Amino acid sequence: MRIAILVSGKARGSNMQAIIEACQQGVIPNSEVVAVIGTRDEAPALEKARTFGIPTSVVNPKEFPDEETYGDALLWVLGKVQPDLICLAGYVRLLPKQVVEAYPNRILNIHPALLPQFGGKGMYGMRVHEAVVASGAKVSGCTVHLVDENYDTGPIVLQRTVEVLPDDTPETLAQRLLPIEHATYVEAIRLFAEGKVRMENGRVVVEA
Ligand code: GRF
Repeated sequence: MRIAILVSGKARGSNMQAIIEACQQGVIPNSEVVAVIGTRDEAPALEKARTFGIPTSVVNPKEFPDEETYGDALLWVLGKVQPDLICLAGYVRLLPKQVVEAYPNRILNIHPALLPQFGGKGMYGMRVHEAVVASGAKVSGCTVHLVDENYDTGPIVLQRTVEVLPDDTPETLAQRLLPIEHATYVEAIRLFAEGKVRMENGRVVVEA
């Protein structure tokens, strides 16, 4: 499986790294990260990808007059890469419509909360954990879902939970969740690579 990873300008690339290593170690079978595409050249994730010898590209939305032209450019770059699966890993923009349409049920995202709660436009990074802690929720977690044309609404593939402790701050919660995110994302991609994920009536069915 050829995997392309999309990241935004500030992404650290820890989920990206977990995916690259899981492919290299065979945890995700017969798969390879063939490209990491970022929105800004100076993204820490892109630098990290280069240290793994993964080809990187930048398609900066600010260099295009509108979303449609940006989407066309992204689609062109993806067309050269020919991915079987696209993984968003700290890509915080809405993915242009024509990209979503070109890769139906082949784009995954990880969100650091239990969707459908604490998702939507502007809900990314520490803002998610701040909202979780402020809500008084006793449980949080992460969600791997298929990407559709809206923020965080695509069919859910996998979720894993983490307890929210009474003295948790957004930072401590984020820190405890991060390794769980890595494991959950890797597991979801492994299930894809093994052909164990399919769609039925708009829902994801995962074979045990
Ligand atoms: C993660 O928390 C992920 O859930 C969210 O963006 C963050 C990216 O972190 N979509 P990293 O760049 O993978 O370290």
